[in-house]
Amino acid sequence: MKPVEELRMEHEAVKLTLRVLEEICTRMERQGDPGVGDAVAQLLEFFSVFVDKCHHGKEEELLFPALEQVGVKVEGGPIGVLLKEHQQGRECVQRMSKSFSAHRPGEPGTSVDFNRDAREYVALLGLHIEKENNVLFPLAERELSEAKQAELSDGFERIENEKIGVGRHEQFHLMLDNLKGLYLHP
Ligand SMILES: [Fe+2]
Ligand SMILES: [Fe+2]
Repeated sequence: MKPVEELRMEHEAVKLTLRVLEEICTRMERQGDPGVGDAVAQLLEFFSVFVDKCHHGKEEELLFPALEQVGVKVEGGPIGVLLKEHQQGRECVQRMSKSFSAHRPGEPGTSVDFNRDAREYVALLGLHIEKENNVLFPLAERELSEAKQAELSDGFERIENEKIGVGRHEQFHLMLDNLKGLYLHP
């Protein structure tokens, strides 16, 4: 699989989790905490391991430097903006984790902070993914040689094994199917 195709597929998985997170916020706002603790814990783990360490790792360690080498600007250019958004996402996940721990189940008024942080993350990552899909990835497909793309694919596999490993990857897929069934197509 081409490296950019792999990242696009990962974006689809991330978009699915963002829809689940939005649905969880809606339920918390309406009904307090209808037993969302496990799902939120799973999502937070997915955001910090799959999204941040693995997916953003592939972009930051390999894709962005490869694009920089062919002249795409970092400071004051698209890569600088995307890197800043990765950092904002990281901070937002930390805030979400804190605000979820601080809320009291069954008291909708105490989930205001979590709902705000979660909706901020949904908006931030949704726009970030659109920018990469529509601007950066077409640029990568156009500008990176076949040899460079093959090198990126090998590097992505290494990062995948280092940060996630085969067994955990499977677990994430099962988790996504499960959350989809519970929150998007009940
Ligand atoms: Fe990114
Ligand atoms: Fe991405």
